[in-house]
Amino acid sequence: MSDKTNQQWGGRFNEPTDAFVARFTASVKFDQRMYLQDIRGSIAHAKMLTQAGVLTEDERDDIIRGLGEIRVEIERGEFEWSIELEDVHMNIEAALTKKIGITGKKLHTGRSRNDQVATDIRLYLRDEIDLILAEITRLQQGLLGIAEREADTIMPGFTHLQTAQPVTFGHHLLAWFEMLSRDFGRFEDCRERANIMPLGAAALAGTTYPIQRDLTCELLEFNAPAENSLDAVSDRDFAIEFCSASSILLMHLTRMSEELVLWTSAQFDFINLPDRFCTGSSIMPQKKNPDVPELVRGKSGRVYGHLMSLLTLMKSQPLAYNKDNQEDKEPLFDAIDTVKGCLRAFADMVPALESKKESMREAALRGFSTATDLADYLVRKGMPFRDAHEVVGKSVAYGIEQGKDLGEMSLEELAQFSDTIEADVFEVLTLEGSVAARDHIGGTAPNQVRAAVKRGQAKLDERG
Ligand code: ARG
Repeated sequence: MSDKTNQQWGGRFNEPTDAFVARFTASVKFDQRMYLQDIRGSIAHAKMLTQAGVLTEDERDDIIRGLGEIRVEIERGEFEWSIELEDVHMNIEAALTKKIGITGKKLHTGRSRNDQVATDIRLYLRDEIDLILAEITRLQQGLLGIAEREADTIMPGFTHLQTAQPVTFGHHLLAWFEMLSRDFGRFEDCRERANIMPLGAAALAGTTYPIQRDLTCELLEFNAPAENSLDAVSDRDFAIEFCSASSILLMHLTRMSEELVLWTSAQFDFINLPDRFCTGSSIMPQKKNPDVPELVRGKSGRVYGHLMSLLTLMKSQPLAYNKDNQEDKEPLFDAIDTVKGCLRAFADMVPALESKKESMREAALRGFSTATDLADYLVRKGMPFRDAHEVVGKSVAYGIEQGKDLGEMSLEELAQFSDTIEADVFEVLTLEGSVAARDHIGGTAPNQVRAAVKRGQAKLDERG
């Protein structure tokens, strides 16, 4: 081996890699975070090679011991990562050879960095998805808690951000719960498809050694070995899928964030976020800003960006592995970090929010939120819905003029718009009557909210 060239592949080269090119093509700065998966994959590979008669048991044991020591060194921050060794795979392999000698050089038999890296990312992503699933569940658990507590709390429901009909705050929070249930399902699906083992595909065509892919697959707890070697080393669709599920989750979190920001404003004044989730202003002493939800709202941008990066990265790549694919890691890792950070912030913050019931109620009383109830009342008394709509519209116009909500008008005032309106009308014009009347699965009635909380809890319990 010439000392002028790279130790791992320098055989056919006559001059060393340009120093800038070495830095430009290296991934070790960001792929070292997969060291655990790389070591795990190598141990499984070494065990399999031993079963296949390619390595002796002593060689296998040396490899496993050496990799164990390297792991400890990395975790203690004592491992020296080298740019010249390009990536996590070659750094660890070179360190192994330094430690155990010639046997270290045998580890790469029947394997390529192409199937190795594809395996490592899938293992890494799988572990991270498990953490994300647990965090979504924690947030959902928190939502069930406040939904139960706020099952009777009445707030205005909005369409077009204009007061529409009264709803219960618990019902509103359960809408968030539903969004997150679908997000959970998307990450589960993504995990399922990511959990396929590329190892054995080698560089692109498979290997001539008598490898036992079922054994490595079992050791690494993959669902199955990848069916096609060319596909196994080249596609990063699972990373795209992860960023897609992440983008949708972040989109949901931005909607929740937006509502939290609105609700904490003096204009809405629906909730209080505990001080520990807010920050102040250096110039305006009165300010308490909802920074956490704002930041989550802003972080959606980078995750959407990573989805676009990965789609563009993969686009038009011919089979099989291309160096382009090294660019999969930074977007993927940043998406993972961002999703975890946002979920953690939300799971900590949401259960701590305090509702301002009086203020919500006050808002629901403004804005004619029971207008639909009055129309439904007239329909029940035999009036066609369109006519009822007209009658109520006129009552509302009168209310605006007089500065009175429907529930604040006298019977005489209401009856001037239709003689169908009688004293029992006031039962439907109260906020409590309005929400209680929407008493079916998916409706806002307090007892429906409590039933939905129970179903939600059963769903979370099934996840174990
Ligand atoms: N660092 C590379 C990556 O992240 C590993 C695979 C490189 N394989 C190769 N033949 N250059 O994709």
